Amino acid sequence: MFDENLIVYLNGKYLKLKDANISPMTHGLHYGTGVFEGIRAYKIKKGTGIFRLTEHTNRLFYSASKLRLEISESKEEINNICLELLRKNNLESAYIRPLIYFDDSSLGMKIGANKTSTFIVVFNWPKYLAQEVNVKISPLRRISEKSTICDAKISGHYINSFMASADAKESGFDEPLLLDHKGAIAEGSVANIFFVSNNNLVTPQKGKILAGITRQSVIELAKDLGYTVQEKEIFSKDIVKFKGAFFTGTASEITPIKKIVLEDGQEISFDVNVVEELKEAYARIISEDSMDEKEWFTMI
Ligand SMILES: Cc1ncc(COP(=O)(O)O)c(C=O)c1O
Repeated sequence: MFDENLIVYLNGKYLKLKDANISPMTHGLHYGTGVFEGIRAYKIKKGTGIFRLTEHTNRLFYSASKLRLEISESKEEINNICLELLRKNNLESAYIRPLIYFDDSSLGMKIGANKTSTFIVVFNWPKYLAQEVNVKISPLRRISEKSTICDAKISGHYINSFMASADAKESGFDEPLLLDHKGAIAEGSVANIFFVSNNNLVTPQKGKILAGITRQSVIELAKDLGYTVQEKEIFSKDIVKFKGAFFTGTASEITPIKKIVLEDGQEISFDVNVVEELKEAYARIISEDSMDEKEWFTMI
């Protein structure tokens, strides 16, 4: 349960979560016609700061443009609302969720028939995944670029993530790993994937995946640490040659993978220790010890 006294933002007003009512006729609720972001604020050495806020807001507006949603607020206003909500809720670290969706003006499939609503909430959300995870290749394929704009963070896309995640959990795994329509590795339900071997990182290329902001941050960090990074197509048969693997995402940060079970039942085990250096480097950035030399934070 969420604290119903949390101060949230809805269409120009700050109000308590319990008073932020929306109609059951909301288009976004029926069809998933909304776009959202998952952002984190951390308490770092010089105070509370939002991690890569500009990049998240840019992606929110990119997703909205693909869904033909016109966001009422400017990028700067969205950023300021996120910062203001942290202040109003006295939160030093938090998960921030902006959600923009088509309202209850109409239930048809007609562009322009609905107004857009903006909802933003901030709350405490601990790391989403366990410390280390066991993964199963999902029998469900990742949404295709032939069916939708799959690098937009559109609410309805998460039916795919939810179904794959439910299947993995029902089969005793922590997370699914989804393949694309060609059978190449795409990503987890809410996280991107990397493979590691001897200072070399390999990750699926952009286009068919959500271009994760943590993914981009890890690529930059890894290069600073002397890793080479390849963005390329990877197939299940290739992953046996890697020593380590990990997921990246705002909610799950860096999560080492212990094991991936392929579609034919073959188990591939990974050494979680090979992820340690990157995990520590990332943890330093988002912790109190961070020197913030990368200017990745927008301070409140
Ligand atoms: C499908 C999917 N892939 C990857 C990610 C990771 O993206 P980010 O690092 O920007 O949080 C997410 C997280 O929201 C996601 O939902």
